[in-house]
Amino acid sequence: MDFSRIYDSIPYILEGIPVMFQVVIVSALIGISLGIVVATLKIVPNRFINFIGHAYTAVFRGTPLILQLAIIHFGLPQLTGYITTPYQSAVIAFSLNSGAYISEIIRAGIQAVDKGQWEASDALGVPYVKQLRSIILPQAFKNILPALVNEMITLTKESALVSTVGVLDIMRRAQIVGGQKAIYFEPLLFAGVIYFTIVMILTYLGQRLEKRLRKSDGR
Ligand code: ARG
Repeated sequence: MDFSRIYDSIPYILEGIPVMFQVVIVSALIGISLGIVVATLKIVPNRFINFIGHAYTAVFRGTPLILQLAIIHFGLPQLTGYITTPYQSAVIAFSLNSGAYISEIIRAGIQAVDKGQWEASDALGVPYVKQLRSIILPQAFKNILPALVNEMITLTKESALVSTVGVLDIMRRAQIVGGQKAIYFEPLLFAGVIYFTIVMILTYLGQRLEKRLRKSDGR
């Protein structure tokens, strides 16, 4: 091993960090919004609408993310005639995929809230949307937080797949440096250290947030 040979490429690889965060943060925000919508489809009292929500999750959880990304980036332009940039394709694929997982997290979180909370607010005549928004969701949020942090960690690591459509993320840059210098171990190991550090930071932030919420709960 000879890290001195990649010293001058370190800044180039590090530039992949903001690229990765752009994909992850934008996808997470769209994914959460989508997850809320799809979770709602799954719990409203209407069989047909429930089916749509479950079908969505089945498709995006039932096929590999790398395939979804390839279909969106390489396949769809053939049908639509509209070419998306690697970054756009990445965000679309990751949002759609993450939305499927997040909808399950949210659905489970909502259904884990004690039935008595629905019943009590029913008895008080609170309308459905207000019940959900002001009574059920705030409690569900605490339940789902660990799973949501987990999803963010997954998203961060899986973001390395965007290297397959040409996004210059950490992974892609490490491979390029490997190709240029004909030494792969050092740049790939360096990329690994970056991902690991970011995941450790996310884990720590998640734990802190959880503790804060628990405190506010008086538990
Ligand atoms: N590698 C898995 C796949 O190809 C991960 C999917 C992403 N997972 C997630 N929780 N967003 O399907």
